[in-house]
Amino acid sequence: SQYHKGVKHLCETGIRNVPLRYILPVSERPNQIVQGKLHMNDGNFQLPIIDFSELYGPKRSQVISSLSSACENYGFFQVVNHGIPNEVLNNMMDVAKRFFELPLAEREKYMSADVSKSVRYGTSFNELKDSVFCWRDFLKLVCHPPADVLSHWPSSPVDLRELAVTYAKETKFLFLMIMDAIRESLGLTTTTKNMTADDQDDDQILNELKDGNQLMILNFYPPCPEPDLTFGIRSHSDYGFFTLLLQDDVPGLQIKHQGKWLTVEPIPGAFVVNVGDQLEIFSNGRYKSVLHRALVNSYKSRISVVSLHSLPSQYAVRPAKMLINETNPRRYKDTDFATFLDHLKSCDYEEKGFLESRK
Ligand code: SIN
Ligand code: FE2
Repeated sequence: SQYHKGVKHLCETGIRNVPLRYILPVSERPNQIVQGKLHMNDGNFQLPIIDFSELYGPKRSQVISSLSSACENYGFFQVVNHGIPNEVLNNMMDVAKRFFELPLAEREKYMSADVSKSVRYGTSFNELKDSVFCWRDFLKLVCHPPADVLSHWPSSPVDLRELAVTYAKETKFLFLMIMDAIRESLGLTTTTKNMTADDQDDDQILNELKDGNQLMILNFYPPCPEPDLTFGIRSHSDYGFFTLLLQDDVPGLQIKHQGKWLTVEPIPGAFVVNVGDQLEIFSNGRYKSVLHRALVNSYKSRISVVSLHSLPSQYAVRPAKMLINETNPRRYKDTDFATFLDHLKSCDYEEKGFLESRK
């Protein structure tokens, strides 16, 4: 149907109202849209901001402890001074924008509902299953192994591959740096001396992340004529260890914090980082993956670039052995990517349903 060509295309047909397919039941609609615009938070909610320029200096232990409290209390934080040059971020945003500006005939080449493809243009959340569609188009790029996947990435805009590969490498490096700090925040051993068998086991999991899966998703949310009837992306948690999100200057991302939906204010040049399901399992529940969603507005399109990092697909995901003891028993069953995919294909939309099934 026409909806599978995406919302960008739908908007170009000149619609004035949101088609029925995108309209949520009254009780599920966002209620923070005022006159087509996202109403910002009341009070002074701000996500913890972590300054990475201090990570390798004398204040490292303070950075680690703010990281640990951000992960425990919010599951989300923003990272500034992360070392990735602004130019790399701006180039990535810019090429994403230029990709979505391409004519339908060009974007259509990548449209597919086959989730196993290393490049895929999709729409909504899971277009094969969603009963109500989301106001979002996306380009998914599998980033590993680079030698195999690169030639499948779009060849238009001509500089997309080059800019996106640079961005992928930089975010992978930052991911490993954050992961190393997270390991420390969980109190896991970082030396190779005096390691117990359990230490080595945990270390092995973390080492696997170096060759783990990386996935990039370029999200495009066109202006929506009736943004109070639908979502850009519905409430979900991310699979994977954690996600690095770059958003433009248009607010839209919200996280669920203490039962309330709060808007994450865009900070130029910062990454929004969030705990994913695999880290929740690995930390044996100390860090929880957090529900988040994106709202749309009536006046301006919004772009976000998401970089998701997880263990290699065949690898078992389980709680770190050093984090299990008598007072803190194992909280999750082993799992892997195939189990996750089965869950995704077989279940209806539900918030954090996958983790519930692993308890
Ligand atoms: C996502 O959760 O995948 C996207 C969120 C956003 O666009 O801010
Ligand atoms: Fe997400």
